Amino acid sequence: MTDRAPLEFTIEHNQNPTSDAERAEILANPGFGVRFTDHMVMIDWTVDGGWRNARVVPYGPLSLNPANAIFHYGQEVFEGLKAYRHEDGSVHTFRPEKNAKRLQHSAHRLALPELPVELFVESLEQLVRVDEQWVPAHGEDKSLYLRPFMIANEDFLGVRAAETVTYMLIASPAGAYFSDPTRPVDIWLETEYSRAGRGGTGSAKCGGNYAASLLPQLTAAANGCEQVLFLDACSEKFVEELGGMNIVLVYEDGTVVTPESDSILDSVTNDSLLQLCAAAGVKTERRPVTIDEWREGAAAGRITEAIAVGTAAVVSPIGTLKHPEFTIENPPVTADSFSMRIRAKLTGIQNGDEPDEFGWLHRLA
Ligand code: COI
Repeated sequence: MTDRAPLEFTIEHNQNPTSDAERAEILANPGFGVRFTDHMVMIDWTVDGGWRNARVVPYGPLSLNPANAIFHYGQEVFEGLKAYRHEDGSVHTFRPEKNAKRLQHSAHRLALPELPVELFVESLEQLVRVDEQWVPAHGEDKSLYLRPFMIANEDFLGVRAAETVTYMLIASPAGAYFSDPTRPVDIWLETEYSRAGRGGTGSAKCGGNYAASLLPQLTAAANGCEQVLFLDACSEKFVEELGGMNIVLVYEDGTVVTPESDSILDSVTNDSLLQLCAAAGVKTERRPVTIDEWREGAAAGRITEAIAVGTAAVVSPIGTLKHPEFTIENPPVTADSFSMRIRAKLTGIQNGDEPDEFGWLHRLA
């Protein structure tokens, strides 16, 4: 079999699924990333045979040899997207082809095979059809978070690209990533450690980038902050991104600016936000932004909002940016703030309450 889509999926139903009562209890208060549905997708790849054995199987632990390369060299990439329940009961996801292509970009950087876009999208359809009852009700600001990932799956301690790989998809009902999505989050400005260097893996969605953010994240938490902001590793002047999301700044003339760099993740949420702005006649810029521009702009009132954007975070306003030597205070958020209006627009499209003018939705069930 070569890397051609579509593959035939087999389905093995979970013989011991979560009861309706327990699922209802989970969906009432899902948290983020703590509970999982009854099934998962697995697809195998070998260097000689390509993609094969696409299957939906009961959700459960994996049995891996301790010598498996994944435990030693972190050859892994992942994605994050969501399934939304519309008022008519149908279930849709948002721009899945963009996630599929980003997974290919990440896989290429990590010397993993590129999963065909159609197979990626079909894996979402297959899992969500089987676990459809896990998609929270419409109008509750909840969704089913979909976590596709790919791991080296070969028992071998030499350092080389794995020749057997597994792609998987799991799903987790999700509420807001931050406890109250309208309450500004405080951010710690990290200056000792970097997230990514030039030519590194910064633009890939790989576990290593997130692992590298954990120590600074602990410092952030010790300083009362929920996220950490990284500057570029080379000059330590340019704003890159947060531990798990992109940054957007709003200027007093309404211009929306997002930092540009080869070492930040190409966020689907950020791209969608910029497209919505452009369509509404709002000026947008993707360009390098220094921390001094942010600091001085906020102090002088030229920068009126700072926002964290990502699939999990959606659009979350930033309150204070803290550093041992200074703080940047962003003005209070009101119902009329750009972040609140654009969040309502974006989630309105995702939940089917606003017209999908860009054709971004993909029906899953
Ligand atoms: C996402 O937004 O989907 C991510 O993978 C980021 C993580 C903070 C959950």
